[in-house]
Amino acid sequence: MGHKSIDELVRAEEGLVSRSIFVDDEIFQQELQQVFSRAWLFVGHESLVPKPDDYFVSRMGTESVILTRDRQGQIQVMLNSCAHRGMKLCRYDHGNNRTFTCPYHGWSFSTDGKLVEKPGELVGVPGHATHYKGELDKKQWGLKTVAQVVNYKGAIWATWDADAPPFLDYLGNMRLYLDAALDNRDGSSGGSEVIGGVQKWRVKCNWKFAPENFIGDLYHDISHRSVDIVGIGPGGGKGRRDPSATRSAICFPELGHGLLGRLPFYEEGPYAPQYARYPEVEAYFRQVHEQRERTLGSAMRVQTSVGTIFPNMSFHGRQPRTLAVFHPISATEMEMWRMYLVDKDAPEAVKEAARHYFLRYSGPGGMTESDDMENWTGATEASMGAVSRELYFNYQMGVGHAQPVPEIPGCAVNGEYTEENARIYYRRWAQFMNGLSWDQLMAGSVRVEERAA
Ligand code: FES
Ligand code: FE
Repeated sequence: MGHKSIDELVRAEEGLVSRSIFVDDEIFQQELQQVFSRAWLFVGHESLVPKPDDYFVSRMGTESVILTRDRQGQIQVMLNSCAHRGMKLCRYDHGNNRTFTCPYHGWSFSTDGKLVEKPGELVGVPGHATHYKGELDKKQWGLKTVAQVVNYKGAIWATWDADAPPFLDYLGNMRLYLDAALDNRDGSSGGSEVIGGVQKWRVKCNWKFAPENFIGDLYHDISHRSVDIVGIGPGGGKGRRDPSATRSAICFPELGHGLLGRLPFYEEGPYAPQYARYPEVEAYFRQVHEQRERTLGSAMRVQTSVGTIFPNMSFHGRQPRTLAVFHPISATEMEMWRMYLVDKDAPEAVKEAARHYFLRYSGPGGMTESDDMENWTGATEASMGAVSRELYFNYQMGVGHAQPVPEIPGCAVNGEYTEENARIYYRRWAQFMNGLSWDQLMAGSVRVEERAA
């Protein structure tokens, strides 16, 4: 980059995005500061830490963080780095620990509200009375904690920025669609849980390729042609999609989030054709869906397919429900995580069918994810050269054709095939990279509470 400004690199209105933002190391460092140190980030799910003292090691940008449930039942998120000399405290992926003791010199930290005033406070220092002569102020040397953390329908979100707006404002009306992924019954059930653990794997591509794909790239269907022909759902034989399903690209231009969904919601055929071979599973999902319709009433609910919450979280909002997060490792490498969600109180047969479907469809061995990974890796590699990085990617499909949706403030829709959603995603990215204040970033956005019922 060096010579070009962010506005020269991202010309979103024209549908042009410089390849250098996918390969350049300096831009990557800037992203860590301007995007990942400020935005609300998805860090995990409450079902990963069901009991007091359970912890799950997650990431925020390139930082390792500890997500833990303290003895008072509160979720805490802290930097996984010892305050003394920086050693990584937790070297396991998950576990149960009352205190976190550093393997380097033995300092220990606690989240127990009975022992400490602030989560992550330093409680144990070997040689405090002797080597330190009792002079080290333990209160000053706790773990760094996030500025804000929120448990939204079981999903844990955090930000390092104390000035960031409340999470629900950051989400805006995109909340309607994230809900479809997080809580299939909108609070009327025992909640959701992650089954089968978290799949984690590294991909040699820039992290932005993935959220861009999930925000509404229906155009890349050709990549999955072989899967369509083979047909991989437990239903088998029909291809991975119901061909009658037409979707719209729906986006929130002010906020940078977006999805593919049907607008307005309508239903035809079996609710979950992918489970046709398992009548009891299909019946369960249909019943859950009907209950949801009764709870929500409005036909304005969109049937969500896939969506992205800016900057690096995506989801499948219909059965099966999955959450994905794309952690930046370097300009040209990311670590992708996938979690699979089911209703906690669903019958075992339903959980089992969902698990099989997930494993066939998504993840490093899934039949569609591997197609996508090949594209993202190839595009990253072929943009690293001195010549190729000077070029721009083309995002011109549907420029000027987005229509506002009056029923959903702050929302635009642009038919089935469009790159509008990718354009709003990169426009948002550019706003963060330009260091706009939160007032500027949130100007024009509409709080979900203000939405007409
Ligand atoms: Fe942790 Fe020294 S680095 S105790
Ligand atoms: Fe794909």
